[in-house]
Amino acid sequence: MKIFRHSKHAVYFAVGLGFVLLLLTKSYASTGILRDLAQQSGITIGASVLMEPFENDAVYQETLAQEFNSLTPENAMKFSHLHPEKETYDFTNADKLVAFAKEHQMQVHGHVLVWHRNLPDWLTDEDWYPNTLEKILKWHIITVVEHYHGQVDSWDVVNEAIDENGDLRDSIWLDGLGSSYIEESFHWAHRADPNAKLFYNDYRGAGLGDKANAIYALVQDLVQRGVPIDGVGIQMHRSIQDPPNPERVAANISRLNELGLSVRITEMDIQIYGDEPPDDEKLQAQAQVYQDIMEICLAAVDCTGITTWGVSDQHSWIPYTFDRPDAPLLLDENYQPKPAYHALTETLAQ
Ligand code: XIL
Repeated sequence: MKIFRHSKHAVYFAVGLGFVLLLLTKSYASTGILRDLAQQSGITIGASVLMEPFENDAVYQETLAQEFNSLTPENAMKFSHLHPEKETYDFTNADKLVAFAKEHQMQVHGHVLVWHRNLPDWLTDEDWYPNTLEKILKWHIITVVEHYHGQVDSWDVVNEAIDENGDLRDSIWLDGLGSSYIEESFHWAHRADPNAKLFYNDYRGAGLGDKANAIYALVQDLVQRGVPIDGVGIQMHRSIQDPPNPERVAANISRLNELGLSVRITEMDIQIYGDEPPDDEKLQAQAQVYQDIMEICLAAVDCTGITTWGVSDQHSWIPYTFDRPDAPLLLDENYQPKPAYHALTETLAQ
């Protein structure tokens, strides 16, 4: 059967079809401008990565590689994922992310070696003698960091060790090992990969409040005693209703830099609360917060970059965790740039 009367009609059809397909992919594919501009400014723009969309959604992978020059496994390097049984490590998923980063010339920020959450049952179900618990933590850290020796650029060694009051957080680690688990963890990680940059990471510590002061005191003490810590990760899970105060964030980063420590903005998402689709005023307010933080990071002596906690609004942990709609990231549910994305590219372009 002959569908086209002339062969040139077949050519017109093929060209037309190609054009439509191109338009269709373009309406999803991102621009890649953010990554290019971040690269030119010498900073990292990162995203945390979830395995489910990473493995099942081609646009997710494509966007990740185009828009970001750094990735943080959102869950795949947590204790229960990497070390599900006492004698068993499972690096399968995390290895895939590290390989992807290498293929696309992205940095890898390892998250996380020591945390009070996401611990496997075999660990939490038993009462351990302190020296056994210490061996467990030590060999967990050494095994994981050695596995990724030379492939993971930086690590969140200890995460959220300080509570809301500025005290050391009650946890299996503090209870069993005392406060020295923090410095020991840095020593073990350093021993396993002396070139990896080692960070203390925490939330609600961006400005100059009690918690930020407690984090400052903790890392100052580590630095003064020669513990191998390279920097502080400032999580930035905030909202337009309760945004960080730019002057206070700048002052906090500056005092951490004066200790000789780098700062990274590690887990940024700015919640707007409710509304689908989100209204424009809220998206503009959100863009302003992203812009403020980017300006502070660019102006700081040593702020290595910003990582958003997710690739696009479609897979953010916020709606899932707090059971309400939200749109806290740079790209919308269809991977389209939001005002916050444009605010960052404009800031970087200047
Ligand atoms: C969150 C992930 O985003 C979720 O997918 C998971 O269910 C729970 O953990 N601070 C951290 C991150 O350091 O590891 C947390 O990530 C968010 C809060």
